[in-house]
Amino acid sequence: MRQVPKFEGRTGRMEPKIGVDEFMALARRFGFSEAALGRIGAAVSNDDLPPGGPGLQRWMGAVPEAAGDRYAVEAAEFFGVAEAIPVSSGTAALHAALVAVGVGPGDEVIVPAIGFLATSMAVALCGATPVFADIDESLQLDPATLPGLLTTRSRAVIPTHHWGFVADLAPIVEFAQQNGLAVLEDCAQSPGASYRGARVGSVGDLGCFSISAYKLIGGGEGGLITVREGGRLAERALQFVEGGGLWRPDRFGPERYPGELFPGTNYRLSDLESTIARVQLPKLPVIVDRYRRVFGQIMAGLGDYPGLTWQKSNDPTGDIGYQIRFLPATNEQSAAIAAALGEAGIWAGHRGPDSAPDWHTFHQMFPLFGAHADHCRPELCPRAIDYWARMVTLSVDQWYTADDCAAFAATLDAVLRNVCA
Ligand SMILES: Cc1ncc(COP(=O)(O)O)c(C=O)c1O
Repeated sequence: MRQVPKFEGRTGRMEPKIGVDEFMALARRFGFSEAALGRIGAAVSNDDLPPGGPGLQRWMGAVPEAAGDRYAVEAAEFFGVAEAIPVSSGTAALHAALVAVGVGPGDEVIVPAIGFLATSMAVALCGATPVFADIDESLQLDPATLPGLLTTRSRAVIPTHHWGFVADLAPIVEFAQQNGLAVLEDCAQSPGASYRGARVGSVGDLGCFSISAYKLIGGGEGGLITVREGGRLAERALQFVEGGGLWRPDRFGPERYPGELFPGTNYRLSDLESTIARVQLPKLPVIVDRYRRVFGQIMAGLGDYPGLTWQKSNDPTGDIGYQIRFLPATNEQSAAIAAALGEAGIWAGHRGPDSAPDWHTFHQMFPLFGAHADHCRPELCPRAIDYWARMVTLSVDQWYTADDCAAFAATLDAVLRNVCA
């Protein structure tokens, strides 16, 4: 009989699958400044990174101090909510938030007629029906439409804060509370904005953010769910985000309450994205302030013009203002203004009544047209159709100096005086 030597296990020094070098190489591709890269580098070390690489932040408590968890804590504090859950995209955030409040087949969810396709698609992904609410002159969901849209199947309403402005949350929340609806704020386009002093994402039951490369902060892809009161809504959202995670006191224990256990998916945010988001989050108020200054300085150089309606603000101190939008009296005037501004060096967007299809308006959300085409009929939301065609959009730059703002305002003022005379 041979004596069997005991295998004592690995003696080689283990390195994570994705080490700091690869991590930083990826981070460099996001185009951060050297200072930001330095902070990202300081926030991670080989010891921080889990053996399998970024993305296993919660897994079996293997990396208790991983970036994803730290980001969750910091984001909850930043947005003023009990819990925040990092997820892989804004669409994932919406899907999980809807599941968290119990939206399922046969239910209806009210969404604004102008917004982004992801919001209504997330409703459809739950097997529910998106019901479009018309907009008002704030170009946001018009709270006055809600009573006419309520049915016995209504479960939730999703005010989207569009284009750096905020939806009128107070009447929406009041209506929802009176009628047993959940309020999910879609904050993807207005992170850091506030409504009556509270950051968007902390007013409704849940808030949904995108932190993709196209948003005010973000690197590659990513999202965040904020849960105002935490508790079961947060548990359910997390259960859906990490179906195999079962982040419960007793992971494999029996159901603690009816409906606690249900199949989820994998919408986790990786540690790489979490680290980048952590570095960017504290910059958000600074970015927002820069836009507010620029927006305010440009608007101070403008006046009233016959027939022209400025986008109404639901909270002038809470808006971000990275775009300027207005409604000239006619489509012809809108086209003339956009053309004159273009010639004068300011890009201006105007769609007109025969515009190319676009995913931000309910009547052109083609992926919904199979089962939900009936809800996308233009006649259901006439103001959205009119404003979508007629509005003029200008983008402002957070880096404009006071002189840039004055020059921008002078050009815009001259064009508006000429066309609206
Ligand atoms: C209002 C709104 N909601 C949701 C999303 C979806 O976010 P993501 O692209 O991260 O899935 C977007 C993205 O543009 C958006 O603008």
